[in-house]
Amino acid sequence: MNTTYASIKGLGFYVPETIVTNQDLTQHMDTSDAWIQERTGIKQRRYFTYGKDTNASMATAASRMALDRSQVDTKEVDLIVYATITPDYYFPGSAFLMQRELGLEGVGVIDIRNQCSGFVYALSIADQFIKTGMYKTILVVGSEIQSTFLNKSNEGRGVAVIFGDGAGAAVVQATTDPEHRILSTHLHADGRYAEELYVRDPGSSREGRWLTEETLSGGNYNVTMNGNAVFKHAVVRFAEVIQESLAANAYKPEDLALLVPHQANIRISEYVRQQMNLPEEKVFNNIQKYGNTTAASIPIALTEAYEEGRIKPGDLVCLAAFGSGFTWASALIKW
Ligand code: ACO
Repeated sequence: MNTTYASIKGLGFYVPETIVTNQDLTQHMDTSDAWIQERTGIKQRRYFTYGKDTNASMATAASRMALDRSQVDTKEVDLIVYATITPDYYFPGSAFLMQRELGLEGVGVIDIRNQCSGFVYALSIADQFIKTGMYKTILVVGSEIQSTFLNKSNEGRGVAVIFGDGAGAAVVQATTDPEHRILSTHLHADGRYAEELYVRDPGSSREGRWLTEETLSGGNYNVTMNGNAVFKHAVVRFAEVIQESLAANAYKPEDLALLVPHQANIRISEYVRQQMNLPEEKVFNNIQKYGNTTAASIPIALTEAYEEGRIKPGDLVCLAAFGSGFTWASALIKW
């Protein structure tokens, strides 16, 4: 009997049309293009258009592109795994709204919130469901509208300059070809650091109502980040989880054709590249254009890498992420 594996059949992404440059941000806060570029590598990001884009509509657009490019009919999709930390509603999750937009009534959906590692976690879930034979075609999505929960004043400038909006998607399908498949996925988390990067409110475990005048005036609905702690943990965990995926499949860093890291910050990616002793052309970066799009960053980057011809059949490609939670994860793929 043939073993069933999972492979990525096609990719797609959607970014909203409004480009917000570093210079544009100086209208709201005391910052500069030089500060932002030097600290993060970011030149511009996209912000959604109210009334046009929603988290789910962006995910739908990315999914339609991925389905078209895979030449897979929408009706073949038998599960949606959707990663976001910025859903359209508190509940139900945006996976339900995307399922409705795609006309896939009855098809199962899984909403996951694993922050910047969300897409790799979602891919891992898809990989397992396909390998067990339960499903054949799974849409894996990461989508974020973060521009609405950033504090774009001086108080929030250390965080606000980093994040942007966008969506990416992958069609993952069953295959019996051992040469072109997801080789393995590796998932980790450490809740001891939950408050190093988080949005506290609105939360359920509050006195009285979950959303009050007091909550609104407290400002804890903005992102709180200990930038130094994130940086220190990220550089260690990225390298660890990439090595873990390579070792699990008896590969070495030099075997990699391309590393597609979560686009957290150019300095983090550069540090990891040097630790792994990888040449510049083997690490993909597009944070310059989109900022950090959290769960959407890897599928957007992967799609652009593919479009630019940086991934060819048979290439060894590693996806790696680190984010709030803390979470970190990797996927090793034989393309
Ligand atoms: N523009 C200008 N000045 C700023 C800005 C800004 N946007 N933000 C902060 N500053 C000021 C601060 O007020 C501070 O001024 P002070 O010295 O007078 O007090 C000074 O710049 C230095 O502030 P730090 O917070 O120490 O800045 P740092 O050099 O650490 O850079 C950064 C901040 C970029 C967030 C850095 O900590 C970092 O790279 N952290 C990693 C975290 C990260 O990249 N997160 C990405 C999202 S999380 C993820 O995806 C995993």
